[in-house]
Amino acid sequence: MLTHRVHRALAGHLRAGDIALDATCGNGHDTALLAQIVGSSGQVHAFDLQQEAIAQTHARLTMLGLLAPVRFHCADHARLSALLPAGLQGRLRVAVFNLGYRPGSDHHIVTAPATTLAALNACTDLLSRDGAISVVAYSGHPGGAVETDAVIHWSEALAPQDWHVIWTCPQGVRRPAPRWLWLTRQQTQT
Ligand SMILES: C[S@@+](CC[C@H](N)C(=O)[O-])C[C@H]1O[C@@H](n2cnc3c(N)ncnc32)[C@H](O)[C@@H]1O
Repeated sequence: MLTHRVHRALAGHLRAGDIALDATCGNGHDTALLAQIVGSSGQVHAFDLQQEAIAQTHARLTMLGLLAPVRFHCADHARLSALLPAGLQGRLRVAVFNLGYRPGSDHHIVTAPATTLAALNACTDLLSRDGAISVVAYSGHPGGAVETDAVIHWSEALAPQDWHVIWTCPQGVRRPAPRWLWLTRQQTQT
């Protein structure tokens, strides 16, 4: 399952004490994983437009005893640079985007290309030298294919000497299959 692969990659990349961002916290599954790994010495910034999503994520983390590192931002992730604490530049180790709509909620409230790309650009500025950005994009809902294409084009425009771009598209799972972007800085840059 793609979610398990994404979570394995995140667990392999993130360490205790790190700073992480969940740009679309939804029902809190990704935030919980990030909080579990970074622990109380780390920070997880969880963004969502929907108050209900923030409440759902808060409840999940409370239940799991993982609230300590998490800061909630009920806001558009396009504004993340303005809303995150000063001094985060170059210190964000992981940013997670799970696009589309929140399962179990209004399917009309979806991520959108302009705000997604604004948030991705902000994350590339904040990311540490060994940081990673994970984006899972879905094409099955209205606007999803356009947004997926926008993220693909965005990733293709990144300077190849600075960024390592891997797209994964699992076959035979569902139609249309989700796509997963795993983006890391090239370690060779000076
Ligand atoms: C697929 S869900 C995320 C699922 C979540 N990662 C989880 O583990 O449950 C996408 C979420 O993005 C949120 N969202 C949509 N547009 C947003 C925006 N511009 N800024 C922040 N969150 C947004 C939606 O409200 C929704 O909760």
